[in-house]
Amino acid sequence: MNTKRKQVLKELGLTPLWRIKSDYLANHAVTQTHSYIKNQHKKPPSAIKTDEARYADILKMDWDKLINSVTNCKACPLNQTRTQTVFGIGDQHANWMYIGEGPGAREDATGEPFVGQAGKLLDNMLTAIGLKRDDQVYITNIVKCRPPNNRNPALDEARQCEPYLARQIALVKPKLIVALGKVAAQNLLKRDESISNLRGRLHEFSGIPLVVTYHPAYLLRTLSAKSKVWEDLCFARATMQSLT
Ligand code: URA
Ligand code: SF4
Repeated sequence: MNTKRKQVLKELGLTPLWRIKSDYLANHAVTQTHSYIKNQHKKPPSAIKTDEARYADILKMDWDKLINSVTNCKACPLNQTRTQTVFGIGDQHANWMYIGEGPGAREDATGEPFVGQAGKLLDNMLTAIGLKRDDQVYITNIVKCRPPNNRNPALDEARQCEPYLARQIALVKPKLIVALGKVAAQNLLKRDESISNLRGRLHEFSGIPLVVTYHPAYLLRTLSAKSKVWEDLCFARATMQSLT
């Protein structure tokens, strides 16, 4: 890592970096007591147990093993209704990582994230700041299988899928993560706050700077949010510029 980036991250209070594996196991895998979980799920998951060994295995996988493991995954009930898994796409060494919520109908049919209407808007959002899919950008979701009827992923589903995302992040090592929408933001940050509270500030995921913006599907319904998304994209771009 270059010295300037290290220095900027230090100034931002975002060091130490790349402690995903230990932080992740300590903070994410086994016990979660934050309000997001407490509010949404009164009783702890019982049918699906957190499997520490499974998580530890996943956190050691290379790309091929990880892709294979996701493709064959049956760790949560979403495996029963999916057509196929939607792993993620883009540059495996991208500076930018965009994380959505979960596949929709088109993604389930094609195996690629953000290819439906929301995906077109995401492409426009990328273009707006001089980016494009596949070039310095990696795109994935909180859950890799489509929740039926496009409902939000349940907490247990997101937890079972979490180590895959953690490993993708550890392998890509993006300089900046953009969380698209409430589900992505709340799952990554473990915070029960609205997008309007979370946006406009720099957060972090295991030492990696993270910014939050509205989900492109929300933008399709709420055109008035466009100017806020533009502000968020400018903030993201300025943050990236300060890191490179
Ligand atoms: N919405 C998401 O959150 N992810 C996709 O891949 C498609 C739509
Ligand atoms: Fe496995 Fe994730 Fe699909 Fe659930 S959503 S079956 S944890 S890949």
